[in-house]
Amino acid sequence: MNPRFKGLSCFACDTRHDPLVLQTVCTRCGMPLRVDYDLRPFSPEGRAPTLWRYEEVLPIAARDAVSLGEGFTPLLPAADGLLVKDESREPTGSFKARGMAVAVSMARALGAKALAAPSAGNAAGALAAYGAAAGLPVVVAMPDDTPRAFIEECRHYGAEVHLVPGSIADAGKWLKTNGPREAFDVSTLKEPYRVEGKKTMAYEIWEQLAGALPDAIVYPTGGGTGLVGMWKAFNEMQVMGFIGDERPRLISVQAEGCAPVVKAFLSGADKTDPWPSPHTTAYGLRVPSPIGGFLCLRALRDTRGTAIAVPEAEIAPAAADLARRTGLDICPEGGAAWAAVKRLRASGDLAPRASVVLFNTGTGLKYR
Ligand SMILES: Cc1ncc(COP(=O)(O)O)c(C=O)c1O
Repeated sequence: MNPRFKGLSCFACDTRHDPLVLQTVCTRCGMPLRVDYDLRPFSPEGRAPTLWRYEEVLPIAARDAVSLGEGFTPLLPAADGLLVKDESREPTGSFKARGMAVAVSMARALGAKALAAPSAGNAAGALAAYGAAAGLPVVVAMPDDTPRAFIEECRHYGAEVHLVPGSIADAGKWLKTNGPREAFDVSTLKEPYRVEGKKTMAYEIWEQLAGALPDAIVYPTGGGTGLVGMWKAFNEMQVMGFIGDERPRLISVQAEGCAPVVKAFLSGADKTDPWPSPHTTAYGLRVPSPIGGFLCLRALRDTRGTAIAVPEAEIAPAAADLARRTGLDICPEGGAAWAAVKRLRASGDLAPRASVVLFNTGTGLKYR
């Protein structure tokens, strides 16, 4: 373990939990757990270009990690103040590698014998790969309309795959009832460490921009792990004196066919309601009832950010448009983010000269 890793506390009720045993959600209120550190400044300079360069703010030391070289993806200038953080080149082709690297490292260190998770596709592929690297068996459940490449990828790494009618929520219910009892559940925000891996996206932006934060970060949101992670990371950076109280505006993008975070944000609610009949071809955004919805809302409001739902018909053309402008392999979720930037610029919600980091969260290859 990292000696600066102090413990776990509940994001909602602050109850403390033992960090030396495998934990899922708060045993008192059922909400996600937060990882706490003794936050002191450090310098990642000169370290290998992976997310483990921030090991002082990760629960486990780099030398004990299950790593496939994840993190430190390029932040590339596109046009008009737009920077694309390109996660398509992560191990297994998406930013899910970040969360799974840390979650699987911790699960192995704390004695897990097997791993399981429901997924929209990318998380399953990442879990299958990191499980293989850790020598742990993996069971995943995905919606039965998940594109074939995601399914074959999981099998390629030796994972057991179950296809379930409906959305990731139905896949989660299926696993709970039918999944192997001995498998540790690494569902989004139902264990504490995937957020820690994803938060490194904010540390990278800070480092890659030499401490000059962008005006806004546009993030395609499903379960919200990355959004919550980046919010947490900027707060940590302030405590360590890396930044002051300035924050990039965090902007959450969802598809009109499944937009629980946007709906709650716009209505002033402090939690999300389950989205009935969720649908979108940006499969990673088809998360009808995110357990961390209340945390996404806090992250958006704390940073004076916003939330926007884009029409389904704009997603694929926007992905193609950004791919043609940049030469990057833009996934549908990244396309949704680009469609959102265009809309926010047109409405004046994003100033024409604002510096904007857009997340291309994965490769588009697996959707074809
Ligand atoms: C490509 C892609 N983008 C975005 C998301 C949403 O990520 P999060 O759950 O962190 O909100 C997912 C989740 O499956 C995804 O696969």
